[in-house]
Amino acid sequence: MNKIIAFAGKGGVGKTTSLALFLKYIIDNKKAKDILVIDSDPDANVADVIGEEIQFCDTIGGKMKVLKDKIQSLKLAPNIPKNQLIESDVYSCLIEMDDFDLLEMGRSEGEGCYCYINDVLKKVIDTLSKNYDITLLDSPAGLEHFARKTGRDVTDLIIVSDPSKMGIHTLKRILEITDEVNLKFENIWILGNRFPENLRDILLDELKKVNKENVTLLGFISNNDEIAKINLLGGNLLELSEKNSSYVEAKEIFAKII
Ligand SMILES: Nc1ncnc2c1ncn2[C@@H]1O[C@H](COP(=O)(O)OP(=O)(O)OP(=O)(O)O)[C@@H](O)[C@H]1O
Ligand SMILES: [Mg+2]
Repeated sequence: MNKIIAFAGKGGVGKTTSLALFLKYIIDNKKAKDILVIDSDPDANVADVIGEEIQFCDTIGGKMKVLKDKIQSLKLAPNIPKNQLIESDVYSCLIEMDDFDLLEMGRSEGEGCYCYINDVLKKVIDTLSKNYDITLLDSPAGLEHFARKTGRDVTDLIIVSDPSKMGIHTLKRILEITDEVNLKFENIWILGNRFPENLRDILLDELKKVNKENVTLLGFISNNDEIAKINLLGGNLLELSEKNSSYVEAKEIFAKII
């Protein structure tokens, strides 16, 4: 098995929370042995929901800043290929947790000058994820990175929406953009987070209008006080009770993927 699963959607709809519940499902049920989690959100969200603190210098962004400074001040020996340096930096950023490895992208400054590095980075991550049964990708909110085609090798795209007009609007825009730039996913899943039961038909109706063959409703995860509390107190979502009603729902719907 070699799956790369990305979570996308409007800001704050529950991408990181759903990813953490999915991760818990995979670990608890031994669905995969080698798991990589890539947090490409500059605000380092995944670490937050599993109660970890990560320093900027331990993120890819931090390492790349050092590298960029070295390249600019010509402190690097010209005979060392830059992609080799980037590769070893990526490996040194891997944080080994008990049940999975975590890669924090961190912030990257000064967009333009990062083009070369970003390009190599993308290739390195593609290669890296081949060593894992499953790679979970927490995408930043917004759509730019889809337009830039960075989701190319993703097998499953999970688009999360909360019960808001903007959440559904972004969901639809992501679907349009994946068409426009011809991104291919094996599956596109729609996940309704925090929808009260009486509003779920609205999302279902929107999906009927979309009517695309590889776009499927994954299901719904209800709003849950315990999840909110863990977030508020900076706890670890992986330690959520097996019996938590939203986790029970999550397990059922994620079984459709793996
Ligand atoms: N099912 C849920 N029940 C209760 N609270 C939830 C649920 N899903 C998400 N939340 C809360 O909503 C907030 C936003 O969730 P989360 O951080 O997962 O969203 P996000 O899409 O990753 O946001 P961002 O775009 O900022 O990365 C958090 O405080 C989280 O605890
Ligand atoms: Mg997030």
